[in-house]
Amino acid sequence: MTNTATMRAIQQDTHGSPEVLNEVELPRPVPGMSEILVAVRAAGVNPTDWGNRAQVRTINRLPLVLGWDVSGVVEAVGVGVTVFKPGDEVFGMLPYPHGVGSHAEYVTAPARVFAHKPAGIDHVQAGALPLAALTAYQALVDTADVQPGQRVFIHAAAGGVGHLAVQIAKSRGAYVIGTASAAKHDFLRSLGVDEAIDYHTVDIAEAVTDVDVVLDPLSFDAAGRARSLAVLRPGGTLVTLLPVPVDPAELADIAERGIRFEALLVEADGAGMQAIADLAETGALRAHIEATFPLAEAAKAHALGETGRTTGKIVLTVEETRQAQVAVDALGAVFAGGDATIVDSVVRPDYIQHNPLAPDGRDLQRGGLADRGSEC
Ligand SMILES: NC(=O)c1ccc[n+]([C@@H]2O[C@H](COP(=O)([O-])OP(=O)(O)OC[C@H]3O[C@@H](n4cnc5c(N)ncnc54)[C@H](OP(=O)(O)O)[C@@H]3O)[C@@H](O)[C@H]2O)c1
Repeated sequence: MTNTATMRAIQQDTHGSPEVLNEVELPRPVPGMSEILVAVRAAGVNPTDWGNRAQVRTINRLPLVLGWDVSGVVEAVGVGVTVFKPGDEVFGMLPYPHGVGSHAEYVTAPARVFAHKPAGIDHVQAGALPLAALTAYQALVDTADVQPGQRVFIHAAAGGVGHLAVQIAKSRGAYVIGTASAAKHDFLRSLGVDEAIDYHTVDIAEAVTDVDVVLDPLSFDAAGRARSLAVLRPGGTLVTLLPVPVDPAELADIAERGIRFEALLVEADGAGMQAIADLAETGALRAHIEATFPLAEAAKAHALGETGRTTGKIVLTVEETRQAQVAVDALGAVFAGGDATIVDSVVRPDYIQHNPLAPDGRDLQRGGLADRGSEC
């Protein structure tokens, strides 16, 4: 059967300022083998979104639909998927970087990059978490293996990654030192930070010593790395989130000081998502939402994010009512000929039964399309 369904998406045909982002109508994707189709309810926006919007960074493709964070509802599953069913609420990070495309009404991705959304958090909360929380988790747990009582230093602790990293480090029983402007120190303390440092006024190398793990999302040159290295004890670990080439002489010097240096690029990771879901379920991990914008206002979200001054996360939201209208339109197109056999044998089991938003196929055929559409 030809896929006639469409969806709204935020697409760019060129690189540049937020104005290059346009709302367009695209074919709705169809899940391939081992993939699921997710109706997006909320999708976080991250620095890599506005970075790749402005120029080629990690993804070299035009036209381009950005977005790696997803929280939504499984609409359909591809061949071989056993862990999710249509109607399940899921959240996850699309495979980074090439699986991009969540700033749209629907997205497909390998089932195993998702976890069930915890029942206790809403889609905005769940959509804020994946990329930033996975980054923090992969840095502090998978890479540095933070242990109870260790001293963990987190630069930009009020940012999207930082504020989640603080909570993950605290959940591991660490002593956490975080940097932010003074106005954000109450926020840092509310997250559990033990020492908040104003990086504008304090010489970090003098104020902080004996750190076991530094999480550094900021340093892209030797001078920046030196500020992180200065606070580490021998045997400590520096995890940088800006994986740029480093001079071998600098790497040799770091090794000689007995410091482990790791440059991390976040990876899609269903097991990591499950760990994040568990933390979110217990309340140990919660995203602070700086702002939400409807999908159509993605450009505003980018403009706010790229100020570099936001606290926590920015999230795009997709209205359910609009998705219901899409479902009505899609079915209307399929059943234009009014063939009840197709409705019952093909579409009803695979689509209508499992899609809480879909109207009933028979209603459509009885001419109820307009009525049902106006309910949505
Ligand atoms: N490698 C990876 O896989 C990966 C994954 C995720 C993110 N990243 C990178 O990590 C960085 C942070 O990401 P994010 O999502 O947390 O960004 P973000 O939410 O945009 O960060 C904003 C925060 O950064 C703080 N900040 C800015 N300059 C600072 C400085 N010099 N010292 C301390 N805090 C500072 C701001 O606090 P103030 O207002 O107080 O300055 C603000 O709260 C980005 O460069 C991003 O590209 C890498």
